[in-house]
Amino acid sequence: MTKDVRGGILYYGDNLEVLRKYIQNESVDLIYLDPPFNSKRDYNIIFKEPSGQPSRSQIHAFEDSWKWDRKAQETFEYLLDTNNAPADLSRNIKAMVDFVGRDSLGAYLVMMTVRLIEMKRVLKPTGSIFLHCNPTASHYLKIIMDTIFGLGNFTNEIIWSHPDTPGRPERYFPRKHDTILWYVKNRDHWTFNDSEVRVPILEESKVRYKTFRVLGGRKYLGGQSAETGKVPEDVWQIPAVKQNSREALGYPTQKPLALLERIIKAVSNKGDTVLDPFCGMGTTLHAAQKLERNWIGIDITHLAINLVKNRLFDAFGIVPEIVGEPKDIEGARQLAMQDSLQFQWWVLSLIGARPFADGKKKGEDCDIDGIIYNPVKGSEKVYKGIVKVKSDRVDVKHIRDLMGTMEREKADYCIFITLEKPTGPMNKEASKEGYFKDVFNQDIPKIQIFTVEQLLNGKKPIYPVPPDNFKKAEREKVAKSNGRNTNILDFSGNSENREQSINQPRDENGMFLPISDTVSENGDEEQDCSEKKGEV
Ligand SMILES: C[S@@+](CC[C@H](N)C(=O)[O-])C[C@H]1O[C@@H](n2cnc3c(N)ncnc32)[C@H](O)[C@@H]1O
Repeated sequence: MTKDVRGGILYYGDNLEVLRKYIQNESVDLIYLDPPFNSKRDYNIIFKEPSGQPSRSQIHAFEDSWKWDRKAQETFEYLLDTNNAPADLSRNIKAMVDFVGRDSLGAYLVMMTVRLIEMKRVLKPTGSIFLHCNPTASHYLKIIMDTIFGLGNFTNEIIWSHPDTPGRPERYFPRKHDTILWYVKNRDHWTFNDSEVRVPILEESKVRYKTFRVLGGRKYLGGQSAETGKVPEDVWQIPAVKQNSREALGYPTQKPLALLERIIKAVSNKGDTVLDPFCGMGTTLHAAQKLERNWIGIDITHLAINLVKNRLFDAFGIVPEIVGEPKDIEGARQLAMQDSLQFQWWVLSLIGARPFADGKKKGEDCDIDGIIYNPVKGSEKVYKGIVKVKSDRVDVKHIRDLMGTMEREKADYCIFITLEKPTGPMNKEASKEGYFKDVFNQDIPKIQIFTVEQLLNGKKPIYPVPPDNFKKAEREKVAKSNGRNTNILDFSGNSENREQSINQPRDENGMFLPISDTVSENGDEEQDCSEKKGEV
């Protein structure tokens, strides 16, 4: 029976909390996770300037350094309590932490273990989990997976080989593979669509496989695989996403769509639910949407959530609901109090600006928080705006400073966004700056002040032309599959479709429910979404 394809839902937050709070027991068919690997590195996102040059401002997307702090100690103690974890898991994690020490690797393993327990809980009895890691910790993670999912449910260690990626050490062999551990929840029943993932056999093997062979009393269909292709072995050579490729959207650690498509096709069916609890730039969600699976994505940064939102809109014309984003001024205040950087990233997403760091470290105050480019179609002209976001007290000095920054940066306009109400002198100072005339002879205010509340109520900055700040994902050709795939809208790029998608009804899990008037009568028709292509 074909299941309904209802689209997806994005959660902002720590996946441990999101899993516990929102994701029901045995509700997911496939989990793919690509967590940080304990690489002890920071990952930066590199945007491009309209000229095509890398931006001087690299944004710190996420950290992959762990330390044994109070949180790690508390999580460890939680895991040692056999009311929270099975006894053998408690024993194993204790032995592992005793062995590796209460430091970075220990903290990482504890962080992963507590989350993998939740993942097992939400996986259906027929489901599969693919844990993407690398040799830094794959051997420890395998023991943890064996303990949580059961030794007998280990199915494959897939080696994703990605030769020729940057970095050529001289004193050892280049480390150019990742490890993907596949476990089923129950060895008696799982999905494996071999025919969906077949690949051609090697030319030299075709000669050998011409006829059926009987080995040890078993008949091998070797001859057939010369025609139908073979199920790929457990070493996959799939090129990594190259920074200058069409697929690359600038997010560090972005995985290739081809990798995710193979996994999703192999172990899930149309209408199944795919969960990526460390979704990053949303490659899994993109592949799931394309292959008509329902999906759930979770990420702990507003930067990633916003990039996924853009990606899905550009590729499919959909605007998923985002759970965990502030919906009102109280939510905005809470976010500002909890994490000023996440607050800043979320506010910038409200006006389509991209973050700007200019070499400053996380948490340091910068004179610019965001940047906006407005390229005029068919012309070389690109307007530049700078953005400042404030969550604490504001006064006229901030506007004067901004005027200086605008001049230094040769910006055409600036946007000042404040959580608190701007003062009278601030408004007066801003209006003193006046307007500039754009190419259409419109007057654009040089300084625009907004409160977060105004933006939440739908007020928008006045731009000369719409902003274009992020590299766009290519439009996907998507099948309309017998009228059920209702979350894929007939995209025309207008705001009505965004509204329609936002207002689309959902079930109690937040999944899209069908809207009858968006379905196609023509079952096999393809919707060609290929349209404009843009660079950052
Ligand atoms: C390696 S990246 C995933 C990349 C992704 N597979 C892609 O193709 O774009 C890991 C992501 O996990 C997120 N992350 C780290 N800790 C998290 C947590 N506790 N909960 C949710 N997301 C988390 C990071 O923000 C980062 O975006």
